[in-house]
Amino acid sequence: MSDTYILGIESSCDETAAAIVRSGEQIISNAVFSQIATHQPYGGVVPELASREHLRAIVPVVRRALADAGRDYHSIDALAVTRGPGLAGALLVGISFAKSLAYALDKPLIAVNHLEGHIHAVLLEERQKGNYDLQFPLLTLVVSGGHTHLYLAELKDSGWTYQNVGHTRDDAAGEAFDKVAKLLALGYPGGPIIDGLAKHGRADAIKFPPSQIKHRQRGDKSPEPERPHFDFSYSGIKTAVLRYVETHDLQPAIERRRAALAELPHPRVDDVLALCDRGTLDLVASFQRAMVDDLVGKTLAAAREYGINTLLVSGGVAANSELRLTCERRGAEEGLAVYFPSRPLSTDNAAMIAAAAYPKFLAGEFAGLELSAEASLPLR
Ligand code: KG4
Ligand code: ZN
Repeated sequence: MSDTYILGIESSCDETAAAIVRSGEQIISNAVFSQIATHQPYGGVVPELASREHLRAIVPVVRRALADAGRDYHSIDALAVTRGPGLAGALLVGISFAKSLAYALDKPLIAVNHLEGHIHAVLLEERQKGNYDLQFPLLTLVVSGGHTHLYLAELKDSGWTYQNVGHTRDDAAGEAFDKVAKLLALGYPGGPIIDGLAKHGRADAIKFPPSQIKHRQRGDKSPEPERPHFDFSYSGIKTAVLRYVETHDLQPAIERRRAALAELPHPRVDDVLALCDRGTLDLVASFQRAMVDDLVGKTLAAAREYGINTLLVSGGVAANSELRLTCERRGAEEGLAVYFPSRPLSTDNAAMIAAAAYPKFLAGEFAGLELSAEASLPLR
């Protein structure tokens, strides 16, 4: 089979991205335009601004991906685009652009689930390293600003199949990092800043109680799952941090930090660090420890329950240094092989979309021009 070049396009949240991947296993180019500066003043993604920025960035980003790869539109075999889940207005920018290109160039169009993309970010990089021997089924933890999902993933004759074995009941893990950072006036996005600050605090200073999951009640319409679900919940820890701020009278220091950071055009972790006292750093480190312990504890429990040997962790929060170290250490203790994407492929990108599209290209699973965004698209 000759090489296949797929141009991937991703616009589900606050990154406009385009990439070219060869035969699902080699990144040829990977262009990402991040909108962080646009959303920073609001401490979170503003959907209308995201759509506007995608409109501005989509043409230059796609051109850059082609230029970096030294290819033109005609030398692409297929187009792949994120169909969902994500912000509807943001998704539509990528989808409309990909559909127009597919129509104008008369090339096949492939619709990709964003979560499937995050899983394939790891598979792509492993294949790039020459590792084709992952043991099925894989347990995959997709942990980002919008998702905290556990899937069993397997390649069968019919293509990749995914079975959800756990998800968050409320906030996603990345959302909890972002909301706690906003509450403590540490900046946006919260995950990387908390990751940087936590190294300077004592993670055992404050004990946060483990999250309490309320299981389905009898009489619920949904049937009880045959095997246990490993669900997550992160709204409680966010409230616990807020309670801590109130009972320890941290608000005046937070307001001083908010005012000082507002004076800096692009604050870095070191700037934030200089504005944090020991107590705040302990709080941040303890929060991160509680998040990581919960994520890793539930994921390893799911691996034991389903008899899994291989774990993939992906999504923006997979960039977290403590999560990486803890997963690797505790995974090794339990004989589990653990794989993470590199940091650039952990957060949103289009190489993962082009990689996830390749098996669909081989299977001839193409989308029609009626393709539209699906904000809550499930992964199956
Ligand atoms: O996958 P992603 O780029 O977008 C979504 O699909 O949500 O993930 C973004 C999320 C944000 O919540 C961000 O705070 C978090 O990933 N994140 C991190 C780190 N880097 C990014 N969370 C913890 N530690 C990090 N180093
Ligand atoms: Zn994502």
